[in-house]
Amino acid sequence: MKIEKLSTPCYVIHKNILQQGIALLKCALETNWNRHIVGYSFKTNALPWALMQMKAAGFYAEVVSEDEYDLARYLGFSHVIYNGPVKSRASFVDALQRGHIVNLDAERELDWLEESGLKEGKVGLRVNFDLEALCPGETSSGEEGGRFGFSYETGALQRAMQRLDQAGIRLSGLHLHASSKTRSINIYRALARMAVRLKQEYDLHPDYIDIGGGYFGGMENKPAFPDYMQAVREELLAAYSPEETTLIVEPGTSLITPPIEYLATVVDCKDTHAGRFVVTNGSRSDVDPLHGKQSYFHDIRYGRADDNERYIIAGGGTPGEEAAEGAVGRQGIASAERKILAQQIICGYTCMENDRLFVLHDQPQLSPGDVIAFQKSGGYTMCLTPLFIRYFPPVYVEEDGEYTCVRERWSTEEYVRKNRFRDPF
Ligand SMILES: Cc1ncc(COP(=O)(O)O)c(C=O)c1O
Repeated sequence: MKIEKLSTPCYVIHKNILQQGIALLKCALETNWNRHIVGYSFKTNALPWALMQMKAAGFYAEVVSEDEYDLARYLGFSHVIYNGPVKSRASFVDALQRGHIVNLDAERELDWLEESGLKEGKVGLRVNFDLEALCPGETSSGEEGGRFGFSYETGALQRAMQRLDQAGIRLSGLHLHASSKTRSINIYRALARMAVRLKQEYDLHPDYIDIGGGYFGGMENKPAFPDYMQAVREELLAAYSPEETTLIVEPGTSLITPPIEYLATVVDCKDTHAGRFVVTNGSRSDVDPLHGKQSYFHDIRYGRADDNERYIIAGGGTPGEEAAEGAVGRQGIASAERKILAQQIICGYTCMENDRLFVLHDQPQLSPGDVIAFQKSGGYTMCLTPLFIRYFPPVYVEEDGEYTCVRERWSTEEYVRKNRFRDPF
């Protein structure tokens, strides 16, 4: 159903941008490596609408918990890549029995595999190696080293291969995902070279090489899918063929961050001895839940000038009540009357002092009803948003200028569901 008014705070997904990202990735893979699979990383943003777009694109579900595994099955994904250190035993066995790809992370999963008596299955090993030594200063874990998978340097990886061999289970693939601070091409060259090295050192014949996620997407002056895939191709060709070995990629943020905006409305402005504070009905928790961002891609839609009647402020109840509160959006002051202020501190709705988003320098004064749009807000936001002070905001999809609601704002009803408490009356 088409929506006329957007209730802020909210997320807006621009469907065409999402589709462009998907198309670019597919083209980059088709050009560089004939046999390939895309596993969309559920953890990055598991909004059911977004997951269904990925499924429609032919992507596998890349999941890392029993809950995500169940969600993939619930939504009808017929192909799953099951990763991570906290799989449950039951879902681990179920995934193998159903022929999904399961990348083992630790010894206990080898135990489960042996105890299950399964002889068939798409079993891969997550490789842990000193990537920081090859790409100094680039990895997320730095010199402390990554914690996932079987260590190449200590011999754990080789022992895992031997255990698989003794159990009569073929090693189907190598999983090399690594989180980096830089998302550089250099990282992916190093991962691909490691896949080459392992093949040569242990005489492996894996069906797939999974180089994981962690790419940039939709960013000017940064690498894009074609750059990554070309580099991976150049390295892998030393030992693998695009016609025989499947290349798996597990993108998350590169696909889902660019198309999503977060909209917050200014609700109040106040001056203190320290300066001007602009209070919005959005929160840093919704755009930077890990409180790590230094800056945001954003634009400001000044009240009257930008026809902000489209936006309304979420009230506490029904859509009708919210619409009535929409009047706030028209109280703003006209552009000609706005002074240029040296500094305005943009804040969120929570009662946390550190719920401050950014400082606006030498810009026209903000006033109630102005809307701030935070672009590229799709990755690791919705899935990490807490139920703190207020409930989950709505999510809209924009396609060719038309809006639909794909997740309604959570209300008390959703919040109390599954709770047990005594009726106070
Ligand atoms: C195993 C695995 N694959 C894929 C991803 C997706 O990474 P990104 O969202 O940065 O593309 C992650 C993220 O941590 C991951 O752990």
